[in-house]
Amino acid sequence: MKAIEIREKYLNFFEKHGHKIIPSAPLIPENDSSVLFTTAGMQPLVPYLLGEKHPEGTRLTDYQKCLRTNDIDEVGDNRHLTYFEMLGNWSLGDYFKEESIQMSYDFLTQELNIPSEKISVTCFAGDEDCPRDEITANCWKRAGIPEERIYFYGKDDNWWIAGETGPCGADTEMFYDTGKEPCGPDCQPSCDCGKYVEIWNNVFMEFYRNEDGSYSKLKQHNVDTGMGLERIAFILQGKETPFDIEIFEPVMSKLQELSKNDNIESRRIATEHLRASIMISADGERPSNVDRGYILRRLIRRMTRHISKLGVDLNCLSDLIDLNIDTLKELYPYLEQKRELIKEVIVGEKDKFIKTLARGEKEFNKVIDRIKSQGKDIIDSKSIFKLYETYGFPPEVTKDLATENGMKVDMNEINELFKEHQNKSRAGSEQKFKGGLSSSGEMETKYHTATHLLNAALKIIVNKDCHQRGSNITSERMRFDFNCDHKLTPEEKQATEDLVNKWIDDDLVVSHTEMEKQKAIDSGAECMFVERYPDIVTVYTIGEVSKEICGGPHVNRTSELGHFKIKKEEASSAGIRRIKAVLVHEN
Ligand code: ALA
Repeated sequence: MKAIEIREKYLNFFEKHGHKIIPSAPLIPENDSSVLFTTAGMQPLVPYLLGEKHPEGTRLTDYQKCLRTNDIDEVGDNRHLTYFEMLGNWSLGDYFKEESIQMSYDFLTQELNIPSEKISVTCFAGDEDCPRDEITANCWKRAGIPEERIYFYGKDDNWWIAGETGPCGADTEMFYDTGKEPCGPDCQPSCDCGKYVEIWNNVFMEFYRNEDGSYSKLKQHNVDTGMGLERIAFILQGKETPFDIEIFEPVMSKLQELSKNDNIESRRIATEHLRASIMISADGERPSNVDRGYILRRLIRRMTRHISKLGVDLNCLSDLIDLNIDTLKELYPYLEQKRELIKEVIVGEKDKFIKTLARGEKEFNKVIDRIKSQGKDIIDSKSIFKLYETYGFPPEVTKDLATENGMKVDMNEINELFKEHQNKSRAGSEQKFKGGLSSSGEMETKYHTATHLLNAALKIIVNKDCHQRGSNITSERMRFDFNCDHKLTPEEKQATEDLVNKWIDDDLVVSHTEMEKQKAIDSGAECMFVERYPDIVTVYTIGEVSKEICGGPHVNRTSELGHFKIKKEEASSAGIRRIKAVLVHEN
């Protein structure tokens, strides 16, 4: 069964069981400062898991584009991916364990025709926060899984939360037995040997993890499930790895045909990173040195290096992108319209990287000359590190070149230096994850409303064609990206700030209403990602000055915001400007 057929079967099955199909949110979260990319289907749904009413009801299903970068260095083995698609279904205070488990069992055995004997499941073993989940185990028994294939594990395996704080709960995971020999007498689903492959996770979200590590009960019990599309596809197709399915196979084969060696790891890395880079660029991100942009840069650069390592001419990158988009557009038809843009972004970054390497190589040669003149044959780690820090020259490349020049490097010591460096730079990005998923506290809510006002003010002061291109809110500040072809003049900045403050002083009423998406758009409601929204949307109106499709939350009246102040206006990427602003209390 092809991936697209699995996706269709999944959505149809849950639609038949009363779920509304909602569109995938973009990979780049809107109004969520806590994560760089969407990492799970539940992420765009957090407000609804916490109790807000979803316009489409209490049973939802979708496929969600996801990116997880914590295992980026593992890509190249037979299973890790950065980008993947998650199929999911949700109960928002509707059904709970019994119905969820019965539907999962029926879907696996009747729709996907997986023999029941191939399925093992795991349940939460219980601890001081939540009791042993016998209810779930009994549901499985009633569905048709015998006791000997039901396992109990602790929080490490059977508890799910995105980040540190947020909605969470005990989960039950479904595993497929590949039929491989057990790795030993203790071989179980929790073991990594490859006999068991996790195919689905149903989280029974009834708790909220607070910052102090304690748990509160949520207003409602939810079910949040996730099934990795590439994974279930390779299992159903009887393949060994996700790289063997139709999503990756064309690029994998093309690289094999063009390459001068059979380095499967490099082919997988290049293929995986190429797809991830296409998906990220298509959702509007551009390579840069910070945050998301840096991840995109890293993916493209790593891909470039592995294509070179295969001995493949890098001039074929544009054709490879075409081939990959041709494959992917069955799943993501919108890629077709973005084809040229995606090529520009990825090929452009590849070209930059090649220049970086050329510059680094010159420096490298100087270093070698110096070391040789000292009668040594080991490149000191400080020099290698400097090549990286100053010239962006990756240490693996330094090592390869050193070997070619009959020199040695001490990679151990280098790794130490890198760890130190990474810890330093990571400290910054980790701040972003500290808060777990977006909590919409009082200040965040105010910033949401201020974001709408700023969006409206820029249209009046700067250009009516300015639109939001991104937004990021914390309790301390807001960041707003918009398209604009010039740096704002001091006068424009001041006038924008003044207009937002005038609207705040006018004490405008913020109201919202639900309507059909098309009607909302026709009525002039601002909307950042048309494809992201369901058919019925919430439209927020602020006085007569702003109208936007948005999930909220917002304040009731603009006077609650305090005083609006633009702190910074800068370039974000080509054609995109970024404003950082704060709300302060006037004394
Ligand atoms: N949110 C759950 C997961 O990502 C379903 O595994």
